[in-house]
Amino acid sequence: MWRATVLTIFPEMFPGPLALSLAGKARASGVWALDAVGIRAYATDKHGTVDDTPAGGGPGMVMKADVLARAIDAAASDVRPRLLMSPRGVPLTQARVAALAKGDGVVLVCGRYEGVDERLIAARRLEEVSIGDYVLSGGEIAALALIDACVRLLPGVMGKEASSAEESFSAGLLEYPQYTRPAVFEGQAIPEALTGGDHAKVRAWRQAEAERLTRERRPDLWAAYQKRRKPPQP
Ligand code: ADE
Repeated sequence: MWRATVLTIFPEMFPGPLALSLAGKARASGVWALDAVGIRAYATDKHGTVDDTPAGGGPGMVMKADVLARAIDAAASDVRPRLLMSPRGVPLTQARVAALAKGDGVVLVCGRYEGVDERLIAARRLEEVSIGDYVLSGGEIAALALIDACVRLLPGVMGKEASSAEESFSAGLLEYPQYTRPAVFEGQAIPEALTGGDHAKVRAWRQAEAERLTRERRPDLWAAYQKRRKPPQP
């Protein structure tokens, strides 16, 4: 069974939204499992201290290496990839999500405060992963996002709906626009290409719209897509 083990000072944040909808049903039926491990239980003093002031001074607090190491060794000493959710990590991609979903699961360490003692990151070989260029108040919401993205790819979790969004994104383009009844909404009709029953016309319209949206919104994806389509001539 695919297993996510999350180390956090807020285990009450889990499963959170992952108890609902497809992810929740899949968990209830044994497709995947979640362990939320409270880091504080691995503190050694009576206050349950998990952080301390930064060496060299400065604001905020740093999560202690010794406490986190005990938590990881007790809860997650197996072969699964160990990721530290952090805004300075490598950006998470659909390709990485797909690779993680194919494996046995993940161990996710949620950082809080100003960071985590660098020696722990090295000693337990944590790979830092970011879900975007913005700063959350901790890694928990990033961990929920990563798990959600993986779980929907596990066999049997999603039906056919998954495939079209996936195919489009994996092809390197954003999704084309969608419409449903009524035929006219506040004076706007559904594009004519979609209503005539001509499948070739529908396909061409969707491809053109996916390309237009990608060009307008994601110049980075557009450049990569074009490069793959037209490899440089020797
Ligand atoms: N923790 C705080 N911000 C984050 C981000 N953008 N991605 C992953 N973990 C985080």
